[in-house]
Amino acid sequence: MRIDKLLSNMGYGSRKDVKALVKSKSVTVNETIVRDSGQKVNPEKDLIMVGENVVKYKPYIYLMMHKPPGVISATDDQYDKTVIDLLAPEFQHYKPFPVGRLDKDTEGLLLITNDGQLAHQLLSPKKDVGKTYYAKISGNVTDEDVLAFAAGVLLEDGYKTKPATLNILSAGSQSEIEVTITEGKFHQVKRMFEAVGKKVVYLKRLSMGELELDQSLKLGTYRELNSEELSYCKSIK
Ligand code: URA
Repeated sequence: MRIDKLLSNMGYGSRKDVKALVKSKSVTVNETIVRDSGQKVNPEKDLIMVGENVVKYKPYIYLMMHKPPGVISATDDQYDKTVIDLLAPEFQHYKPFPVGRLDKDTEGLLLITNDGQLAHQLLSPKKDVGKTYYAKISGNVTDEDVLAFAAGVLLEDGYKTKPATLNILSAGSQSEIEVTITEGKFHQVKRMFEAVGKKVVYLKRLSMGELELDQSLKLGTYRELNSEELSYCKSIK
């Protein structure tokens, strides 16, 4: 791999910026000053430094975001801000994308990566990865709803959902619930409640499998997965 491509991918600016860095003799490979920004390097083996900093090359990034409402789970959008717009340039360089979608008004756990294989595994219906949501529901959620969700709900388009676990946290004219589904159909939680005559008024994803939203992340912020979270995600492969 060319050193200018590698450094550019790692957030050291455009190839032109990297060329300037090389010209200023700030870049070394195995302690030898780089003179040609097209020099080939092996990111796994070579000791690459910019000034005093060792450049640790990672082909993939894995971020946990606390998605705020009002942004789209997509890489770009003509009208709205996307979750990728919320990332610092050093992460955007990896060309990451969200793993699955949360609706514009939904908050909570969103995994963002550039590892297509991992995304595929996490989303595969075959893997049965449970996604747990907290929701406020306009209407009284009842034990019959719990049974209906456990049996699978018939949506308005004729699709019968897989069994879902519904837990009533508080019931009343506005109820609070947690629900775990293993699929990711469009607007699935909202449509499941519509199917039993109720309306979701607030929705937040709490977890995907064993990956739980870090409660210390404020809305709109993110962090890299820690090693335990990452090995869980990779174990699904
Ligand atoms: N179900 C929904 O209805 N919306 C989401 O954003 C996620 C699950």
